[in-house]
Amino acid sequence: MKILLVGGGAREHALAWKLRRDDPAAELLLAPGNAGSAPVGRAVPVPATDVAALVQLATEERPALTIIGPEGPLAAGLADWLRDRGLAVFGPSRAAAEIEWSKGWAKAFMRRHGIPTAAFEVFDGLSEAERYVLGQAQPPVIKDDALAGGKGVTVPDTMDDALAALRSIFARPGARVVVEERLLGWEVSAHALVDGQSARLLPFSCDYKRVGDGDQGENTGGMGAYAPVQLPAGLRRRVEEEIVRPAVAGLAAEGRPYRGLLYPGLMITAAGPRVVEFNARFGDPETQVLLPLLASPLAPVLLACASGSLGDVDLRWHEGVCCGVVLASPGYPQAPLTVPALALPPAEEGAAIFSAGTTGRLLTAVARGDTLPQARRRAYEILERISLPGGRYRTDIAAYDRATG
Ligand code: AMP
Ligand code: GLY
Repeated sequence: MKILLVGGGAREHALAWKLRRDDPAAELLLAPGNAGSAPVGRAVPVPATDVAALVQLATEERPALTIIGPEGPLAAGLADWLRDRGLAVFGPSRAAAEIEWSKGWAKAFMRRHGIPTAAFEVFDGLSEAERYVLGQAQPPVIKDDALAGGKGVTVPDTMDDALAALRSIFARPGARVVVEERLLGWEVSAHALVDGQSARLLPFSCDYKRVGDGDQGENTGGMGAYAPVQLPAGLRRRVEEEIVRPAVAGLAAEGRPYRGLLYPGLMITAAGPRVVEFNARFGDPETQVLLPLLASPLAPVLLACASGSLGDVDLRWHEGVCCGVVLASPGYPQAPLTVPALALPPAEEGAAIFSAGTTGRLLTAVARGDTLPQARRRAYEILERISLPGGRYRTDIAAYDRATG
């Protein structure tokens, strides 16, 4: 089977690794992939941002399935262009992906469909937004409406910081800001496969967005992850019934049927699960810890999403836990250096190193174990065998289970 995989991060390396393990004969085109993923597929030097070139590539190659990894090409309508050409695509249309690329649209969508989320207002001008912020009892969360690679959000502790965040976003002409109530609780990532009408939840996972130990410092693209997180059965059902099902039904009812991976980032509050944001794609680094746990072959599952037949699919999971730790280059996230190719330890069963690039987040070291402490110890053992002076990583990934404390 010929598969085109769009993207070049560690998430896409993990997808390619799983597809290759499932089917040694698969023809995998990685557009563009990266140096570390080269052994598992054929790299095609088309960047994930060049939609016209990707459409041309897919039209020439006619893959049986195209998997779109990052949000950028989804927001640019790549899935629409390919479906119009009769190709099977795992990834939502531009309209369905608006649930990620406009935070304001996503919040209004949630309001329309009664999906639990933080109270919010949307502003197009600074002075109105400032007035609203100053009228709140607690400093609210400030979000750039536009896609910002996980970095457009400020969770301020003081009103001054909230106002500074507003000013910095409105310094850009045409900016729009979502101001929302700060939620208290613990965070968990839900991943649901969606075929337009129906959805299947994958195991829950946790990622670590702040750069420093103890969740200190700037928000990043994600510094580590583990799965599964065992949500109490009642909470899992609430996530399905109050969030995933109404989102999938609401998108279909609004003429934007969703086909792909829907990833609500959740805050588990005292009052139940609340949506922090929706993503229209697999999480990074969550994917790197979810796929090593998946026992079923991946391609038929993604193809079923593309063709509206998810109900027939059998999803099986390995026992145990998977932990992944991200290694970033010196200076990340403010001023990341570019580093030369790293010498990596040899592959081991139940473990992997998923590479991203040569600057910023470099790779995710991933390992499975029977228990969380075992998986965590193995992942750190692999990471510690990689020499990178000044390299940054968190030392507290999966140090405890967020669900049980
Ligand atoms: P987002 O890009 O919307 O996921 O936000 C990035 C991070 O900011 C989230 O993972 C949360 O840790 C935090 N955050 C966003 N919105 C809220 C909120 N309403 N209350 C508390 N924390 C939030
Ligand atoms: N893990 C955060 C993200 O993929 O957006």
